[in-house]
Amino acid sequence: MVTLIKISIGFIATLVIITEDSYNSNEATNESIAQHSSIDLDKSCKDKAYKILKSKCNICHRKRNRRRVFTKENMDTWANDIYKQVFIKKRMPSGKKVKLSPDEYQDLLTWITNTKNSKNGNQL
Ligand code: HEC
Repeated sequence: MVTLIKISIGFIATLVIITEDSYNSNEATNESIAQHSSIDLDKSCKDKAYKILKSKCNICHRKRNRRRVFTKENMDTWANDIYKQVFIKKRMPSGKKVKLSPDEYQDLLTWITNTKNSKNGNQL
């Protein structure tokens, strides 16, 4: 009788461990899904920002400011300067020909905010 009780306690304990294990691994899967989708989001907002930098900024910088031709590799390191020039000092895009649409301003700002948040949480 005692052995029977021992066996059933062991059985229940095993069940508990198994269900707990699969619960934990579910949680881990959910976490990695969440991480991936936020990476995808960052990527698509960077793509949008890069298109703007390429079409509205590089066309001029390539001729008049060759040290600041934006690429996908260097743009993140320029995020802070771009923020200052475009949103605070409003010097860029310089000249009368190139204008940014409200959507383009928004896309740039979204990318800048994401970039800053992912780097040691610097505030704007
Ligand atoms: C019509 C030409 C032209 C366009 C368009 C233009 N720029 Fe510039 N930009 C310049 C020139 C010339 C300089 C260097 C001299 C200066 O700072 O005024 C410069 C300098 C800069 C600098 C560095 C400023 C500093 O701190 O020295 C940044 C950052 C910048 N541009 C960002 C941008 C961004 C972002 C855009 C697009 C939204 C843009 N520019 C569009 C001509 C342009």
